[in-house]
Formats: sequence, structure tokens, C-alpha cells
Amino acid sequence: MAELDWGRRYLMCPPEHFGVLYEINPWMDAEVAVDPERAREQWDGLRATLEAAGAAVEVVHQSAEVPDMVFTANGGIVNVAADGGPRFVPSNFWHAERQGETERFAAWFAEQGWAVDRLDPGLRHEGAGDALPFGGVLLSGYRFRSDRVAATDLAALTGGPVRSIELVDERLYHVDITFCPLSDRHALCAPMGWDRYGRQVVEALVPEPLWLTDEEALSFCANSVVVGTTVVMPTTPVRVGRQLEAWGFDVVTCDVSEFLKAGGGCRCLTLALDVPLGPGPAPNPD
Ligand code: ARG
Repeated sequence: MAELDWGRRYLMCPPEHFGVLYEINPWMDAEVAVDPERAREQWDGLRATLEAAGAAVEVVHQSAEVPDMVFTANGGIVNVAADGGPRFVPSNFWHAERQGETERFAAWFAEQGWAVDRLDPGLRHEGAGDALPFGGVLLSGYRFRSDRVAATDLAALTGGPVRSIELVDERLYHVDITFCPLSDRHALCAPMGWDRYGRQVVEALVPEPLWLTDEEALSFCANSVVVGTTVVMPTTPVRVGRQLEAWGFDVVTCDVSEFLKAGGGCRCLTLALDVPLGPGPAPNPD
């Protein structure tokens, strides 16, 4: 197996104004208080863990109007392989509660010198939370937060193939709660989240999947961040940890329980800044 060719640089947003102030997924309960100090400690812990694994972390700041901006995975789609420099496609959020994040993320990338491309304003797509690269394609989830047709726009903007799969369980409302690329051959896969066609797409795409049980999937373990051979997980079911170690990964469990109250884990709290999207692998000559 070869390590992923991305996942060494991340954008994170410290929880300066994080809270569960509204309910836009089944995990959120506005009656449940977030402990801001614990949230900050957990966020610092995640950042330190990623850095110790060899990743660089950059920071964008939130304001009180956008408590969920800590989940930077939803900020947009990154592409560092484009001709003429890195490009960013900001998300068009599904829920009004998060729509204020779009221009904040766009401004951060523009300030760093990235070209910013826009999705059709009529189409919703929640960025890397609903699109992860694997095997030369961008695997994009739709239904709860992203429109299926947004994939066509994304393919045009990134210059690479996008394969869409339908999400079917509202508890697994983003593709990054159902799928986690681990290497060029391995990925965590939660079939519970997909219809029959989606399962077939993943079976054809991933040479060595680690199929998660429903219970494992609902623990958010697929919402993990992979830095080289280190897998940073919000929860590590015993069976999953053993299999990852057998494959040669180092597994680190990082407590992000304050963020799970909002329906987000380790992956949601990070946006990879080094993802190369492009025309995909050269077609096999035979
Ligand atoms: N409360 C946030 C929302 O519902 C959580 C986002 C989780 N992000 C993710 N990439 N799965 O939008």
C-alpha cells in the first residue's frame, strides 16, 4: 500500500464561538450545553495530535454568528493540482444557519492567494464534508446537505471526475461520516449510510475496504483524519483499531466529545489543504 498523497496540511477553526445553538442534524439538541473550556482543550488536543503526526495546521477564525464554522471540512473543496495555482470552491450550505460561513471561508482563501471558483448559486454542496478523493475520483455524497447535480458543477470546476452516491440515513448525513480514505488501497466504509448502488460504487472503488458495522458507523469512527500512517479517530471500536494496526497504521483516539454534541468528529474539524484533484489516473492501456 502507499500512503495518501494528501492529508499533511489542514485548516482548522478554534472554537471561540462554538455551541449547539440550533438543530440541523439528528445529533444536535439545543438544550444540551457545550462546555467551552473543554471544547477548547479538545480542539487544542486534536491540533497537537495532528501536528505530532507530521501535519501542518493553519487557522481561520469564527464569529458568534457562525458557531458551526469550527467544522471547516464543510468550508469547501480544495484543489492544489490545478494549472496556475491552488483553487478553492466555497460551499453553498444547505441550512440558513450555516450560510454565513461561505464568504468567511472564501475570504480566507482569497487572502492566502488562492483562486476562488463558485458553484452555481442554486446548487447546494457542503465541501469536503460531502466529497473525499479516492482512487482518482472525488466521492461525493448527496441528499441531506448536497444536491446530486452539484457533482456536475464540481467536476467542471475541479477538472476531475466526481462520483456521486446517495446517503440514506440522516444520522450519517455527510459522506465523511460514512467513508474515510486510509491509503491508496484502504478505506473505512459504512455501508449503512448508502443505498445499493452506492455500496456497489464503493466496492468497485476500494480494493481493501474495512466495512463498518452499523454500531461502529454510528460511533463516528469513520470521521477520522489520516496523516501518513497515523489515523486520528474520535472513537476507536476495538475491532476497527485491531484491523487498522494489522494493516500497519498507528491509531490515536482523540476525545472530541464536545463537538460530537453538534454531530461532528475529528474529520469535520479539519479541512485538508493539500488535496490534488485532477484528470484522475491515466487509463489502463489494456
Ligand atoms: N453541526 C454541524 C452541521 O450539522 C456539524 C458538521 C459536521 N461536519 C462534517 N463534515 N460531517 O452542519
